Amino acid sequence: MSIEQIIRRYFKSGSEAERILIAHGEAVADKADEVARRFPEADTDFDFLYEAAMLHDIGMIGTHVPSLDCYGQSPYIHHGIIGKRLLEVEGLPRHALVCERHFLTGVSREDILREGMDLPPRDMLPESWEEKLICYTDCFYSKKAGRLKNEKSPAEVLKKLPAFCKPVFQSWLIDFKEAVPDVLILSDRRVSG
Ligand SMILES: [Fe+2]
Repeated sequence: MSIEQIIRRYFKSGSEAERILIAHGEAVADKADEVARRFPEADTDFDFLYEAAMLHDIGMIGTHVPSLDCYGQSPYIHHGIIGKRLLEVEGLPRHALVCERHFLTGVSREDILREGMDLPPRDMLPESWEEKLICYTDCFYSKKAGRLKNEKSPAEVLKKLPAFCKPVFQSWLIDFKEAVPDVLILSDRRVSG
């Protein structure tokens, strides 16, 4: 089944929710592709990277966020775990992991418990190269109306991230060869897995 067919199973054709999912997915897919190409030595699965970027937020349809035209039962923070379940049902377990592991810069069991997040207490950290690429590039885009394709600057991303995610993102700026002013990456760098 194609990406479009999977999206159509859960999103009403022509709806605002579908438009947001696709526009956001394309923005993340484009940047993930661009970042991946900085690493010709990496064995990037570009087809998977594109598909998983397009589907990573599919679970938003099960959440209640009227501004995203989504009228499900769950809080938005559940969009990753809902997406994981949907894509497992669709027989896409690798894509499903991207859904669960892309929230913020990934959240560990300890992060979930310490921050009191409404999530099951288990590690939801990006592990594969493609999972990390999507989690990283997703940080640069919001789903706010009119700003779907606007790439945030690294400084803007850092400003919005919770404190426990900032060192991970600062580390990623270096690891993913982002062109950024030194001032953004000098302090408190934690090497990520
Ligand atoms: Fe996203």
